[in-house]
Amino acid sequence: MGQNNNFQLTGIERIKFAVENLADGLRFANDWGLTEVEADQEDSHLFVAVDGSQIEIVLADSTRPDRTPIGNSSGMCEVTWGVQSFAGIEALVAELATDREVSIENGVLRCQDDLGINLAFRIAQRQSVPYAVTQFNAPGQPKRVNSRAPMYKKAAPHEISHLAIGVDNAGEAIRFYTDRLGFIVSDRYADRGVFLRCSIEGNHHHVFFMNGKQPGTRFNHLAFKVRDIHEVIGGGQFIDAQGWKTFAGPGRHRVSSACFWYFLTPFGGAWEYAADEDIVTEEWESTDFAAEAHIFSEWTFGLEKSDGTLKGPISQSKAEELKS
Ligand SMILES: [Fe+2]
Repeated sequence: MGQNNNFQLTGIERIKFAVENLADGLRFANDWGLTEVEADQEDSHLFVAVDGSQIEIVLADSTRPDRTPIGNSSGMCEVTWGVQSFAGIEALVAELATDREVSIENGVLRCQDDLGINLAFRIAQRQSVPYAVTQFNAPGQPKRVNSRAPMYKKAAPHEISHLAIGVDNAGEAIRFYTDRLGFIVSDRYADRGVFLRCSIEGNHHHVFFMNGKQPGTRFNHLAFKVRDIHEVIGGGQFIDAQGWKTFAGPGRHRVSSACFWYFLTPFGGAWEYAADEDIVTEEWESTDFAAEAHIFSEWTFGLEKSDGTLKGPISQSKAEELKS
């Protein structure tokens, strides 16, 4: 059984997407506010968020397993997790080599999870860059005096927050992560999905597994942290003005408290701007949220489509008992 503190996982370092339309993928990543840097792989494009979180984009190629997305013709093809030290990588090798193929090349451990998702583990490279945190003037307790609040013409995503994956049964899908890698259940959406974090302290969730309406395993969405709600809105308005379509939002999640705005992307799922997500410790009490229509958000503009159905990830999930 995996012991979380031995593995020293820190969060998602890098996601690799393989896309049918490379030009659209690159345009979207630029519009999103990521910065393109020199690629470290051949025929590949590399983008970074402010803290060095990486997005790799390649043209989908079904003749190459490393460029074949899971589930859709465009989608993710590898998830890289950060590890604090090489002792953590060694502990992972000892755990994972017991029942699956593992490889180590240039310090990167690679294997597959039980769903067939390509995983990589490497020494964490992300590094938060300090910035002036937006202050808010609450009644009677002003924190921003003689200073205008920031405005954002375009987002500059600070870091990758979390990944959401649609699966046949979320309760089963999480077992590899909880039992083998020591992930912790932060919260559950009753019969819809499970929010997991890879470390005891920190982000409310690094990965969300949900019962997908469509059979199989596929990328659902990837969330990036931005500095504040103003950047969610400013960044979202910029994306909207470039002609990209809203998937859901702007709105505010009930679970994890984040303000969000999701857009449809060329990557086979959505990308999400998120601000002010919950940060937790071992004292966090996991809750099983009842399944109800608006569980997805406290509020969302335009959540209901004209046919009465709901937009957003919840619309792509199905109610089914979580077989954990
Ligand atoms: Fe999300």
